[in-house]
Amino acid sequence: MKLFIDTANVSEIKEAASWGIIDGVTTNPSLIAKEGRDFAQVVKEICAIVDGPVSAEVLSPDAPGMLKEAEPLINIHPNVAVKIPMTLEGLKAVKELSKKGIKTHITLVFSANQALLAAKAGATFISPFVGRLDDVSEYGIGLIEEIVLIYGNYELPTQVLAASIRTPLHVLDCAKIGAHIATVPFNVLKMLAQHPLTDIGIKKFNDDWAKVKK
Ligand code: E4P
Repeated sequence: MKLFIDTANVSEIKEAASWGIIDGVTTNPSLIAKEGRDFAQVVKEICAIVDGPVSAEVLSPDAPGMLKEAEPLINIHPNVAVKIPMTLEGLKAVKELSKKGIKTHITLVFSANQALLAAKAGATFISPFVGRLDDVSEYGIGLIEEIVLIYGNYELPTQVLAASIRTPLHVLDCAKIGAHIATVPFNVLKMLAQHPLTDIGIKKFNDDWAKVKK
């Protein structure tokens, strides 16, 4: 499973990329707003750090507006994937962009039927939001399972990019199910590397090593 980092914070991206585990980056308008920086500049900097897809979102309610917003983003770097909300107008925009070979990412997917339509329209990636479904007492990981099954049934090339990942268990479940990608916040990525027995083991080795005659 590929791992993307879900942030617009350049320091976090640099740090995680230095671990050798980052295959791409997802941003959204809320993450960009949190940084208080120029959108295009942030996307440009991210593309210089990570050699993989970088999602940048458009917000227009209609397809012509989405396509207009997409233009300057696509020109930043060939790795930019235009992130488009899951609406009928969004599907139109995805169809146009995918015809031109531009990477697209349909976001805010909350049902398997939405995921089916997104794949038919030619989306490169779709993001089902695991955590936000859990928040409303729906089983987010169950949606990933359904979509992986459906895409597998018909060999649809669209990649399932599990989003709104909140815990290490979400990541583990996505990997077991066969999601193509999980986009993970920086703090959760750090948690994936941790185990108390690793820390205890390091301490013991260090304590014992101090007793060795050198
Ligand atoms: C990713 O592309 C999504 O925008 C993001 O994962 C949403 O996560 P949240 O539900 O924690 O805001």
